Amino acid sequence: MTDPARRILVTSALPYANGPIHIGHLVEYIQTDIWVRFQKLRGHECYYLCADDAHGTPIMLRAEQDGLSPEQLIDQVWQQHRADFAHFLIEFDNYYSTHSPENRHYAELIYNRLNAAGHISRRVITQAYDPEKQMFLPDRFIKGDCPRCNAADQYGDSCEHCGATYSPTDLKNPRSVISGATPVLKESLHLFFKLADFEAMLKEWIVSGPVQLQMANKLNEWFEAGLQEWDISRDAPYWGFEIPDAPGKYFYVWLDAPIGYMASFQNYCDRTGLKFADFWSPDSTAEVYHFIGKDIAYFHILFWPAELTGAGFRKPTAVHCHGFLTVDGQKMSKSRGTFIKARTYLQHLHPEYLRYYFATKLNDGIDDLDLNFDDFLHRVNSDLVGKLVNIASRSAGFITRRFNGKLAEQLAEPALYIDFIVAGDSITQAYEGREFGRAMREIMALADRANQYIDEKKPWTLAKQPGAEAEVQAVCSMGLNLFRLLILYLKPVLPGLAEQVEQFLQIPPLRWDAGPNPLLGHAIAEFKPLMQRVEMAQITAMIEDSRESFPAADETPVKAPGPLAMDPISPIISIDDFTKLDFRVARIVKAETVTGADKLVRLELDLGGETRQVFAGIKSAYAPEDLPGRLTVVVANLAPRKMRFGVSEGMILAAGGNGGIYLLSPDSGAEPGMRVK
Ligand code: MSP
Ligand code: ZN
Repeated sequence: MTDPARRILVTSALPYANGPIHIGHLVEYIQTDIWVRFQKLRGHECYYLCADDAHGTPIMLRAEQDGLSPEQLIDQVWQQHRADFAHFLIEFDNYYSTHSPENRHYAELIYNRLNAAGHISRRVITQAYDPEKQMFLPDRFIKGDCPRCNAADQYGDSCEHCGATYSPTDLKNPRSVISGATPVLKESLHLFFKLADFEAMLKEWIVSGPVQLQMANKLNEWFEAGLQEWDISRDAPYWGFEIPDAPGKYFYVWLDAPIGYMASFQNYCDRTGLKFADFWSPDSTAEVYHFIGKDIAYFHILFWPAELTGAGFRKPTAVHCHGFLTVDGQKMSKSRGTFIKARTYLQHLHPEYLRYYFATKLNDGIDDLDLNFDDFLHRVNSDLVGKLVNIASRSAGFITRRFNGKLAEQLAEPALYIDFIVAGDSITQAYEGREFGRAMREIMALADRANQYIDEKKPWTLAKQPGAEAEVQAVCSMGLNLFRLLILYLKPVLPGLAEQVEQFLQIPPLRWDAGPNPLLGHAIAEFKPLMQRVEMAQITAMIEDSRESFPAADETPVKAPGPLAMDPISPIISIDDFTKLDFRVARIVKAETVTGADKLVRLELDLGGETRQVFAGIKSAYAPEDLPGRLTVVVANLAPRKMRFGVSEGMILAAGGNGGIYLLSPDSGAEPGMRVK
């Protein structure tokens, strides 16, 4: 299992510094972390770098909205991101920020070199401008009616209702999402990166195998569509680095974001004495890998290699794309409670469950992967608790009680042990090729064999037979040695469990080449339970905690269009679907705060003779004492929902968005219990 030492630099995409880490992000960071841990276990020199992506308009506006300076905001988020990653055992060698001196240095250096080589052009363009806020508006900050289907409230680049794509100037009744003002058109000088200068280089590069086949096909599509010049500048006010020879113009966030990979590495080099040029010079023999989601491939397989080449640096060895996470078959959703933040997950479930579950789902392709909670529960309970940990718990007790913790001097079944070692080759290849799902299946097949071995030998029966002492010790020692190999193979995925097992077995940290030396005549510690079963109640509670009736003001959607984003229009329903809903006028009789829930108010509603308890997420907008006596509208035939604080028997209607909540009320004259249609 040894091969020549490699020098490997690995990155994950840099998460935006304006929102929390969620389980969708974790697909990427867990995937990368597994691969990096595997390389390190093999003894390769491998560095895992990342950083927060700290620039851009959304971050600037978000800070403004929160009453913070951008520096304060990105600092807070940086701390949170680091803590979340650490809890998921995602171990970066350096986690930095794109708002750093190193990043400014490399952004300027790369820009200056591209400029000097004639790869930057300048021309005046016309763009939407917010006359009130006095700033140019990115497409996502303009909303209006779709020019094709007239759906209201569509973004400036595409319609979420009919799927049309257009430019913001095509929108009907356009308005700025920031101030509400009608945008005007304004001219400004912009700087462009001449991507087409690198077409031949990119075409040659792509056949050398740095991207997956589906991505190579995508790239060919982009070539066919023609490589456009890329606008790399933004006008003030902008949160980013000012362009050296263009005062008042700033680098677009996506110009300095990938350069953040280099900046993080430079910062690491300065702390450790490594040489930056060994990894980034054009003749470097080191390997550089970027793990990214397929949504940001354009930046990583077109712009980035072109920029690097134009500025005299090496290109990545490969860019590994992955698909997107869905939950129970659908896009993560706040209202369904499936937009699960790393933090919320951690309050309910063990991080290694998710690491293992994602590992079983991951491969080297770009298809989306689904988190299905029934499957999740089953996988964890059946594989990790039922199969894996069971091997140790069935063997260890005998060794402790009868043999003073001492393992046998010889392997009872060397052929079986050798089978496990041989199987390691294929598992190694699977890890190397990011076929983690295959690796997990092969490891679990071995776990089945280990259990089968113990089932056949029945140490619990042997233990009752006089004179079978040595055999009991031999069988249980064999079981524990097989267990040790399984833990070794799972160590990239379950580093925390592996550490617990290393303590239990009283051995130094396992390395990838530890297989051929079984533990013989060795004393182990007493076995303690290693992993609990997952209960559906934990999952339900996590979903409940993640569910939001209204987007909270302190949150940004997955791909943040900005702080004032609104929910897209839902799919069309039939009149039958509509008439199923029973809306009634209700009078709020009582309203009180709920201890332990920041957003909820407990309401008692009079529905004209019937009293209902409803928990409503309206606390940010209404003081409970102001509510009694008020009329509102309630969905009366909604199935009762058990929440942590009690049962909610309906839902009241309110308009939400922009951080505000506006309770609906009927005009005067309406009475509790009246049907609303
Ligand atoms: N800041 C940019 C990346 C700059 S890299 C020079 C960005 N940030 S992000 O926070 O939106 O996403 C970070 C990574 O997480 C991206 O690779 C993205 O594809 C990935 N994911 C975000 N949501 C995801 C899912 N729901 N599923 C899988 N990966 C997801 O993009
Ligand atoms: Zn439309």
